[in-house]
Amino acid sequence: MSSDHIEDIKHDLKDNGWFFGKSLYTLEGFEALGQRLGEIIARTDISIDETRSVYQVRTAGGLTLHMDDPPARYIAWLGMVTPEQEEPTKFLDTRPILEMLSPEELTRIKSIQVKDDNGLIHPMLADDGVFHYVPWMIQMQTVTDNDTFEALAHLQSLIRKATRTCHTINIQKGEILIVDNTRVIHGRDRIAADSQRHLKRLWIK
Ligand SMILES: [Fe+2]
Repeated sequence: MSSDHIEDIKHDLKDNGWFFGKSLYTLEGFEALGQRLGEIIARTDISIDETRSVYQVRTAGGLTLHMDDPPARYIAWLGMVTPEQEEPTKFLDTRPILEMLSPEELTRIKSIQVKDDNGLIHPMLADDGVFHYVPWMIQMQTVTDNDTFEALAHLQSLIRKATRTCHTINIQKGEILIVDNTRVIHGRDRIAADSQRHLKRLWIK
């Protein structure tokens, strides 16, 4: 992999929050790319297995747009098997949405907490701009007053509106999608319960 290529990817991640590569990566090339972006902290095979659907990535049901757990700074997916007519991965950069909120609303959003899958608590929005949006993990007891409730409702309505026109990519074999997990939310619609879809996923710190 040329260093120009990795610089292009970093550039896209910084400017847009995501990178899509169609240039047919091998598993080894994907792994090498991940290592150039940071420390790989998890490697996961993403395939449907309803018997293990306690893990959300294993269920065929729809996945509302969300972020994965910190400390994953980037999430990278490599297409292994992509059936035709599959529902695409959806994703959306939240930075322009947060820019639509007032300073007062942003202060309110910073006071809201979100739990991760390990039970750790994070601010929904940190002072350094790191956003952690997992709608079903919002700790509603931290929404303590009406102004905070209204700020959250405004944010969620902006996200819902933007979701109608979010990016959609059906990651084909050898293609990669990388998102900045501190600003881009991702998900997909329901897919067939017997789908043979298979992606490799890296969490990169
Ligand atoms: Fe996810």
